[in-house]
Amino acid sequence: MTKADHKALWSGRFTEATDAFVTAFTASEHYDRRLYREDIRGSKAHARMLADRGILTEADARAIVDGLDAIAAEIEAGDFPWDPALEDVHMNIEARLTARIGDAGKRLHTGRSRNDQIATDVRLWLRAEIDTCIGLLRHFQRGLVDLAAREADTVMPGFTHLQVAQPVSFGHHMLAWYEMLVRDEARLADARVRANQMPLGSAALAGTTFAIDRQQTCAELGFDAPTRNSLDAVSDRDFAIEFVSAAALAMTHLSRMAEELVIWASPLTGFIDLPDRFCTGSSIMPQKKNPDVAELVRGKSARVQGALHTLLTLMKGQPLAYNRDNQEDKEPLFDAADALRDSLRAFADMVPALTVNRERTRTAARAGFATATDLADYLVRQGVAFRDAHEIVGRAVALGVETGRDLADMSLDELQGFSPAIGEDVFEVLTVEGSVAARDHFGGTAPAQVRAQIEAARRRLGAD
Ligand code: ARG
Repeated sequence: MTKADHKALWSGRFTEATDAFVTAFTASEHYDRRLYREDIRGSKAHARMLADRGILTEADARAIVDGLDAIAAEIEAGDFPWDPALEDVHMNIEARLTARIGDAGKRLHTGRSRNDQIATDVRLWLRAEIDTCIGLLRHFQRGLVDLAAREADTVMPGFTHLQVAQPVSFGHHMLAWYEMLVRDEARLADARVRANQMPLGSAALAGTTFAIDRQQTCAELGFDAPTRNSLDAVSDRDFAIEFVSAAALAMTHLSRMAEELVIWASPLTGFIDLPDRFCTGSSIMPQKKNPDVAELVRGKSARVQGALHTLLTLMKGQPLAYNRDNQEDKEPLFDAADALRDSLRAFADMVPALTVNRERTRTAARAGFATATDLADYLVRQGVAFRDAHEIVGRAVALGVETGRDLADMSLDELQGFSPAIGEDVFEVLTVEGSVAARDHFGGTAPAQVRAQIEAARRRLGAD
């Protein structure tokens, strides 16, 4: 048979051939072929189970398993004759199997449907993707902890409203990113628990009349348990939505980091240098070194948020059980997984390799009256009420703005003009190092606390 006059595997009840446009419109093989490994793995487990239950002969099951292995090799070698007229990955593989091994191939679909087959394939695929992303997240976490250790004593301005607020340790800032990634990892691990349930055996929607053994296929495919309701199992894609939701949140975190990297790499701040191998140049401006990787990560976060929106909307109008709408889940799901994986990989390699211009970060922290709160706290310790102290320091800052000086650059006389409670020891709290070191409690930015958190993070990461 040539491709053009293929009979669809479901053509029995039809009296005319499918419209050519409809064939193209309904086809998904050009993207769901990505699931061929999972599809073959599920089919092999199904065939072996059918044989163990006496539903297939041993000889047929062996022919099916060997045939599927040969097809996997064919696909990997790029020799598989993918055919959009066969709709999807399932029917492409089944048709090829029958072409190779004859009638045994036609028996493979006994007691199952493409509805439980696709739900099983996607869960198998997603489980592996989640594991990859968790591995990359941990790799990135390790890199951030190492960077934090290198820069624990580096002072930089901490910002609120992107205005200089208080000095912080650069290491503390890196550990803030690390904490975001710890939660992202936990969300992915949690999504994996619910993804790792096996729909196979739910058949089209109601189960099958054959005496199948779902525990056997479940164990062979490494699922935690078979799903408990066939209608639910073939229809809901909440597991995919949960993954994309966790991915969207992780990408939101990466996007925020990207934004900071772009600001810090700009000559406007000059806080960091990114390695040349992660930057690109301009085709017209010879001097340019652009942080394109960070910008692309920030940009890709939009795709993942879009995918989440698509999947939620795809699901909301669907009555039980399976509807073809669900075929539309794959492209956004694949795209979200690709974006998260690639972004994590890029940042895990790039961010720990950045260098900090410590003089620039320190100068910036000094330039913005970052120790004003420290002076207010000092006055409180001398018995001044905090609101009054706030007012006094505000006036001192106004003088600094007017005369172009930091608080630490003023004389004791000048400072005492604002409050007689100020003594010689005030200069200790006005240095940026003193300010950072003074925030010495659990969760604070003092280098001693940063080092304690680094130890804790290393213990946690050392577990694997
Ligand atoms: N390509 C389909 C999907 O992705 C597979 C299931 C098709 N089932 C059906 N009854 N047409 O959902």
